[in-house]
Order: sequence, then structure tokens, then C-alpha cells
Amino acid sequence: MLSNLLELEKVFKPSLLTQINDPLLERCRIELWIKRDDLLHPVISGNKWRKLKYCLHHALSLGMDTVVSMGGAYSNHLHALAYAGKQLGLKTVGLVRGEQLSVLTPTLCDVQHWGMALKFVSRTEYRALRQYRAFDSFPDLKPQQYWLPEGGAQVLALKGVAELVNEITMPYDALCVPCGTGTTLAGIAGAVPDNVAVLGFAALKNADFLNAEVEALLARPCHNWKINMAYHFGGFAKTNASLTSFIEDFEFKTKVSLDPVYTGKMMYALYDLLQKGYFKPGQRIIALHTGGLQGKRGIVDEKSIRTGADGR
Ligand SMILES: Cc1ncc(COP(=O)(O)O)c(C=O)c1O
Repeated sequence: MLSNLLELEKVFKPSLLTQINDPLLERCRIELWIKRDDLLHPVISGNKWRKLKYCLHHALSLGMDTVVSMGGAYSNHLHALAYAGKQLGLKTVGLVRGEQLSVLTPTLCDVQHWGMALKFVSRTEYRALRQYRAFDSFPDLKPQQYWLPEGGAQVLALKGVAELVNEITMPYDALCVPCGTGTTLAGIAGAVPDNVAVLGFAALKNADFLNAEVEALLARPCHNWKINMAYHFGGFAKTNASLTSFIEDFEFKTKVSLDPVYTGKMMYALYDLLQKGYFKPGQRIIALHTGGLQGKRGIVDEKSIRTGADGR
């Protein structure tokens, strides 16, 4: 690992395991723990550092001076990338989905403040950008520019995600994770012990394509994972009163903040599945908190959600 990346990592806090106590869990005789990647860093929190770390190492090792990537106006990925780029002396460019905003979202204000150059692209152009996966595949790259696909969905990301799995020293039966591109799930599936089931929860509607995406990222076939597609609440970044009140109640009882786009939906799903007897009594489940709390600032703006806020 390059010295400037190690230097940046020095300020990271440990990702603790917090046990959740709840009468429902006692009744079901299930132990539920949250792996607190949200506590890793005030900005590059959750799965962001896990996914970015080895990609940034790659870019710097190749002598690149700029990372170009893509995301929505509330993108956790662009937010973390812009900050990391500033810390590492890498220039960053963000291709942002949708037309130029007259007032920037809090996320875009931050990324601009950290030096990211923004270029707004139409939704059609944005969708087309998803075909470029390899770091050198984006046709508009200038010399010394490194392409990072949406959500940092690159094979190199899996190595960083595997590190979170290796930090867990207690035995457990299932590891749960919210899914956007499926990259975090792929990293986990490739790294957990053989007896552990990996359960993903899609944050998007019509997300069946995720199964193929995960398979394509995995170096070897794994049969230990499954993505539940039923808890999208109408689509990406959509919420309803039931989800909102679940999150408020959960936060009040546990003092663990959840974002409504990813971890809120996952925790809602877990509680619902518990009630339906999905898990066997005596099982120990770990849910990964993937961070994303900065994106919560956008959720108050209902209109922008409806017009396609994208936290990926
Ligand atoms: C907070 C948060 N959680 C979960 C995810 C989903 O991760 P992945 O795209 O690796 O499936 C994302 C998107 O990257 C995210 O921002």
C-alpha cells in the first residue's frame, strides 16, 4: 500500500460490532449485530473506503493524476471520492446524472469544495456510461486519467471489502448488506467462511440484473449469497411512512443512525423477515452498516427524490 494511502488510513477509527437488543430478537432467539463501518471516518465512511482503497492505490501506482467517475446529485460515492482525492493529491472529475442544477445539493457543494470538477450529463448519456467498467475503458479519458465506474464497481474493490470480513473474529451465521451495484456483496461473498450465508437487499426496483453483476465480479463461482429484491419501497431513494417510522423508532431505541436509501431498507427487511420466521432460533446475524448518512441531507427534499436522486 502506498504511503499516502496508509497515512490517510491512519485517521480511520475501528469498525465496531454493536449488538442490538430488542424484545423481538429475544422472542425469536436471534442475536443481531451491526458492523459499524459508518464509524470508520467522518466522510469516507461505510463501504466507501473499502471499495475505493485498492482502486486509488491502482490509480496512483499507474502514475495517474485524475480519477473520473459518475454518480447522482446525492452520490455517496462521489462524495467519498472527492474527499479522498483531495487528501491524496489526486484530481477528481464527477459526471453527474441529470441536468445542471441551479442550486447544488449539499453533496455536490461538498465535492466541489474539495475540488471535484463537475459535469452534468443527460440521463440517457448517464445510462450509457455504465457500459465502461475497466479503468481505461472510458473513451473520453485524457492521459493520466483513471476511470472508476458507478459506485466504484470494480474487481479491485472486492479486496478492500474482504478486509471488513476478516475483521470479524466471532462466529456468525449470516452477513447482511444493502445492494446498489452489488460490489460490496460480491466482496463479502468471496471472503466469508464457508458456513456463512450472505444476504443482500436491493435498494433498487427491478434489480434482477444484480445477480449477473455479482457473478461477473466474483473471481470464482460462489453459492453462498442471495439478493432479496422485495424491500425497495417503490424504487431507488423512495421511502414511505412505514419505512420512515421504522427508522425513527430504530434510531431512538438503538442510537444507531440509518439512511433511508440503503441501511434503513435493509434493517426494515431484517425485522420483517425475523417476524416471518426466516431465521432459525439460535442464529447470530451481522448486518453491515454501509454508511451513507451524508446522503440523508437530500432526503428532506422530496421533489429531488422524485426526480431521481441517486445515492450510489
Ligand atoms: C451507503 C451505501 N450503502 C450501500 C451501497 C451499495 O453498495 P454496492 O454498490 O457495493 O452494492 C452504496 C452504494 O455504493 C452506498 O452508498
